Amino acid sequence: MQSLTTTSLRIRENQLWILDQQALPQRSDWRECRDVSDLVDHIRTLRVRGAPLIGLSASLLLALLAEQGMKQDELAHSLDVLRASRPTAVNLMNNLDRMKTALQQPDFVTALTAEALRLVDEDRALCESIAAHGAKLVTPGSRLLTHCNTGGLATAGVGTAIGVIRRAHEQGNVEQVWVDETRPLLQGGRLTAWELGELGIPYQLICDSMAASLMAQKRVDAIWVGADRIAANGDVANKIGTYSLAVLAKYHGIPFYVAAPHTTHDPHCPNGAAIPIEQRDAREVTGVSGSFGSVQWAPEDAKVYNPAFDVTPADLISGWVLDVGGVTPAQVREGVFAASLK
Ligand code: MRU
Repeated sequence: MQSLTTTSLRIRENQLWILDQQALPQRSDWRECRDVSDLVDHIRTLRVRGAPLIGLSASLLLALLAEQGMKQDELAHSLDVLRASRPTAVNLMNNLDRMKTALQQPDFVTALTAEALRLVDEDRALCESIAAHGAKLVTPGSRLLTHCNTGGLATAGVGTAIGVIRRAHEQGNVEQVWVDETRPLLQGGRLTAWELGELGIPYQLICDSMAASLMAQKRVDAIWVGADRIAANGDVANKIGTYSLAVLAKYHGIPFYVAAPHTTHDPHCPNGAAIPIEQRDAREVTGVSGSFGSVQWAPEDAKVYNPAFDVTPADLISGWVLDVGGVTPAQVREGVFAASLK
């Protein structure tokens, strides 16, 4: 396969490399990803993360395994194993559906490579369109708040919510960004803070629990988040903590926008209650670990509830900004998400 470089994926000499998102920002460790069990481990441990990136990395690995001579039935099994690696983000399933179609072609090796590379190119273009549509909604002097990480690390392109912020900043309309640290895995504190710093976008890092008082002080003009799945009624699953931001935004009269590509849309999922929510290891809540080491503060036997995502009901969302354009609450009520968007 041709060489390829995104912020967090590389193809070099027919091998997939991933930038370890658990080690960032203290270290830039590129890890080789030789087989399905490597990638499943990277995805489960969030070294590879972000809805679009998970789907792209799985697709690229399948194509490389086909090029290395893996048989069709083994590829089909690998595809199923990868599909089960993270349940909430539907981009993985949507990308792998396309890879499955390619796998059924007579020349499946060529077809898989072409499809995986097409998915990467498309994701770059989707990010650009989202950024262009979203930036039109950012008014001059905006102080924006974002949650989790939705940038170049999480996609092949400029990102989704961060792509919007980046474009709006280039247009001179962003005064600063409030970055939620995003407990428990600190994607905001580690990754978004790093990305915004690299981009030269002014930001201040806050603990998730500080967002409410900032809104009460009228220091937040709009909230921009990404999505892991958009249901047919417009409900959105995203990183845990997104729902509380949406409730707060409604109370304080602040616009709450979701930015996502159409690969995040699942017309087969009727509403948020039907979105599978990943439950994660208790140790993510009883302490914290990263390139800096591990620490536990809770009692050894503490009982823990650790859902990785929550669901924001459609009626709390001011707008869904997709590659195909902005979607309004009225359009959602008319059923725009109940049909395929392509
Ligand atoms: O658990 P993560 O870090 O993969 O969660 C990521 C998010 O919730 C993002 O907002 C979402 O995947 C969109 S990334 C463009």
